[in-house]
Amino acid sequence: MLSAVVLISGSGSNLRALLEAAGDPRFPVRILAVGSDQAATGLEHAELFGIPTFVVSPSSFSNSSEWSAMLLNNIQFWNPDLVVLAGFMKILPPEFVAALSPNLINTHPSLLPKYPGAHAVRDALADGATVTGVTIHVVDEGVDTGPQIAQAEVAVLPDETEHELHERIKVVERELLIKTVADIAKGRIDLKTLKG
Ligand code: GAR
Repeated sequence: MLSAVVLISGSGSNLRALLEAAGDPRFPVRILAVGSDQAATGLEHAELFGIPTFVVSPSSFSNSSEWSAMLLNNIQFWNPDLVVLAGFMKILPPEFVAALSPNLINTHPSLLPKYPGAHAVRDALADGATVTGVTIHVVDEGVDTGPQIAQAEVAVLPDETEHELHERIKVVERELLIKTVADIAKGRIDLKTLKG
């Protein structure tokens, strides 16, 4: 059984999907705790499932290094095998990444290396992309640059809004995230051997 801490910043639909999957005793991943950088609405999913939550807000610290050290403390309290960024929207400093690497993964709503950053879906539409998707990758010191673990494509439909496209991407993303963490737990994916 692989243990995980999940970090979110927003509505937490990916978190919800993981919690539902983990409700099946045959699912090989157990979620120990859920953290956020703010009072994210998605924390409610964790509370519903009886999973402990923590919030470490950057505004309570004088710099990013102090903030991330406290975030790391909160994570390490649970001693998880894996940390999953599921819609966590803050950049994490190198010392945080180094402390958890390679057991720190992120899900991102584009086919990386295309459209990294906080507005991947908007950027794909602005670029006139006809296909985009989702990438799950190991986090490194860059922004969405780490070794890729899994990808899935989503076709862009004509006249689609950013919200509509993102919601369709998230349907695919949730399935891919569940499958990927299960594959990590089963040893089918070895994070140590992935190359950037
Ligand atoms: C997800 O699509 C995730 O890939 C994205 O935020 C969304 C969170 O949705 N993350 C990023 O854009 C990170 N660069 P959710 O809160 O409903 O799970």
